[in-house]
This record gives sequence, C-alpha cells and structure tokens, in this order.
Amino acid sequence: PLDHCRIINLPVVTDVHGKLTFIEENRHIPFDIKRVYYLYDVPGGAVRGAHAHKALQQLYICLSGSCDIKLTDGFKDKTFHLNRSYMGLLLSPMVWRSVDNFSSNSVLLVLASQLYDEDDYYRDYNDYLRGRGILDGPAETG
Ligand code: TYD
Repeated sequence: PLDHCRIINLPVVTDVHGKLTFIEENRHIPFDIKRVYYLYDVPGGAVRGAHAHKALQQLYICLSGSCDIKLTDGFKDKTFHLNRSYMGLLLSPMVWRSVDNFSSNSVLLVLASQLYDEDDYYRDYNDYLRGRGILDGPAETG
C-alpha cells in the first residue's frame, strides 16, 4: 500500500491577484469526496494520526505552513514534508501514518472518501500489523 501513496501536484491558476487551486473528485483525486476536515491550532511538538484506516482514502494538503507525514506499511517507511498549498499527499487504505513537525499556524486539510467511522480505524499498531497479515495472533481486547 505504501507504493500507492504519492504526491499529487494540484492545478494552480496564477494571476496578478494571487493563486487559486482546485480539486475535483475522481479527476485530480481517485475518489468521491464524502468528508472534509482540517487540523489547526496544533501545539508545537504535537503528534497527530498514529493510526491506519481499513478502507478510507484521503488527500492531505498543508494549506498553510508545513508538517511531516510519516508512513509505514510494516516493512517500509516514507516521510513526506508538505509545505505547498498545491501539494496533495494521496494516502491509500492500510497505511499507518503519523503527522508531526507542524509549523506554527499551520493548517492541514484532509479530503476523505468516507464519512467518519471509528470502525474503519486501526488505533493499535499491532492490530494493524495483524490486519496486514504481518503479525500472528488474535487482536488485543479491552
Ligand atoms: P483522529 O482521527 O484520531 O485525529 P488525528 O488522527 O488527527 O489525531 O480524530 C480525533 C477525534 O476527532 C476522534 O475522537 C474522532 C473525532 N473525529 C470526528 O468526530 N470526525 C472526523 O471526521 C474526524 C477525522 C475525527
């Protein structure tokens, strides 16, 4: 799944009055947009994410400032530094991510292919590895 995560350079319309970027579902990104959320007022040093999704597809865009998106699939790791408003990071399902190194006043926009569903999350890294078939044994309960 990590190999399917990639930077998408979004269109930029530039004129003397500034820049404009747009995103159309199933054109610039390969999914229907069901949900939009954003992270902001993130305190210095905070780490967000630290989970994986079973089916959700997402596009992360750091609209203002910068942050690091750290990905792993249990075998390989990749870090993406998002620092341009036209730079989208497409995240596949079944990839463990954490987000850190937020600059002050950064805003991280996320477009998502599904409505919020807690059942779509792996919140525990070992559960995620079991879901990937990398680790044996039953999921932790409780
Ligand atoms: P979470 O996805 O864990 O945030 P992050 O990965 O950035 O740390 O969500 C944090 C909380 O917000 C969690 O209790 C669920 C809630 N939430 C919603 O209610 N709707 C949403 O669309 C999202 C993304 C989170």
